[in-house]
Amino acid sequence: MTSSDWIALLTSFAAIITAVGGIWYQQHRISLERMEHKEKSPEKTLHGWSTGLLKPPPPVSDDEIIDVSLPYQAGAPIRNPKLFYGRKEQLASAMRCITGTNMASIFILGARKSGKTSSFYYLNHLLNPDNYPQVIPVILHSQIPISSDKNFYAYMYREASAILASRCKGNLQVPEIPREVEFDTLSTFLRQASSKGWRFVFMVDEFESLVNNKLLSGEGFFASLRSLVPQVEISWVLSSYRTVYMPGTLTSPFVNVVQDYLYLGPLLDWDARLLISEPAARAGHPFDSEDVELILDLAGRMPFLIQKACLSMYTSRRAGRGRQETRNQLNATFRLDIGPYLETQLSRLLPEEREALFDLVLQKDVTKHKITLNSLERYGLVEMKQDQYCLPGRSWEDYLYRKAKESMAAAD
Ligand SMILES: Nc1ncnc2c1ncn2[C@@H]1O[C@H](COP(=O)(O)OP(=O)(O)O)[C@@H](O)[C@H]1O
Ligand SMILES: [Mg+2]
Repeated sequence: MTSSDWIALLTSFAAIITAVGGIWYQQHRISLERMEHKEKSPEKTLHGWSTGLLKPPPPVSDDEIIDVSLPYQAGAPIRNPKLFYGRKEQLASAMRCITGTNMASIFILGARKSGKTSSFYYLNHLLNPDNYPQVIPVILHSQIPISSDKNFYAYMYREASAILASRCKGNLQVPEIPREVEFDTLSTFLRQASSKGWRFVFMVDEFESLVNNKLLSGEGFFASLRSLVPQVEISWVLSSYRTVYMPGTLTSPFVNVVQDYLYLGPLLDWDARLLISEPAARAGHPFDSEDVELILDLAGRMPFLIQKACLSMYTSRRAGRGRQETRNQLNATFRLDIGPYLETQLSRLLPEEREALFDLVLQKDVTKHKITLNSLERYGLVEMKQDQYCLPGRSWEDYLYRKAKESMAAAD
């Protein structure tokens, strides 16, 4: 080959190398940009930005703040322990089960808005690290969508490890828990923590919705949860409307771990009066004894209805209305206010329960309904006075009377 041939060959060779290098560089840059984009994706940016948040500034001065908040809360569960009234007997039983040497499991039963979730928050408050440094209370909410057994194990793991880390005061870094974990991963964590002396209290709210969740594998899933009991320092606290029936063909059913059933019926008379009087007095617009009697007469002693009535009376009083005017207004509007709540309460009862209530309100012979009425008494839907069944709260009684008449008219 001549020297010009060599030059031509080398030039083409160099051109090929430059082209290949160019393509490689281009591809490398694209993938780098992709990675960079992924790193900077809105999801990634959101993740963890709030860890560096500062505390909010303090209020200018306490004297300048006019308290416009309401001292009663009717609807959402009570988180503030100062607004939680009564339930001492049930809470004491629960605490005995949870904190005893042999950790036991319990069911908290109650109608809609009887205070099941609020009681979980209160138990959580009682199990504070100052008094029970070794106890890890974990509230598991039914509103969290659970898509599989492993997803629930991950939920348990995530919540328990976060509380454990906070109890270790920064000496424990928990890795990010994936969306799903194997049961073995969860049980190993709980066993290891138990062997160090930690005790777990898992409070499962609205347990029936977990039982009815079709995305869970059913018996196998609950058998796995049950299998934790002998291996781990654990108490299950389950809440639901009614006792939950579970078959259990492979092993003894999960609910057999439960040793005590606590019902959230009406508040004791003393606690009901305190719930009515204390918040209004604290907020500077106290109720008088006639107000208190009217609220008890209309609402009975279930805390939600009391809170509803108090809220209405309090807002009217704070708006500057006179005492008698306020009472007249409550008398006239309370029934309408709580209509939708009573409607759902009635719709969730069994046909024999409805029949027993209708017979009672129509003053028919209720001897045949004794068992049903006893059970309704535990839910605060029926009351026993001087050995006679009666209906607690004038609003509930009037509502049932209207419904019973409607049902009779429909049957004719
Ligand atoms: N112990 C309590 N003290 C004061 N109010 C309560 C108490 N328990 C329940 N309530 C009232 O009932 C409402 C519903 O409570 P919640 O705990 O959500 O009931 P549940 O979980 O049984 O449906 C609360 O907003 C509050 O008005
Ligand atoms: Mg609830």
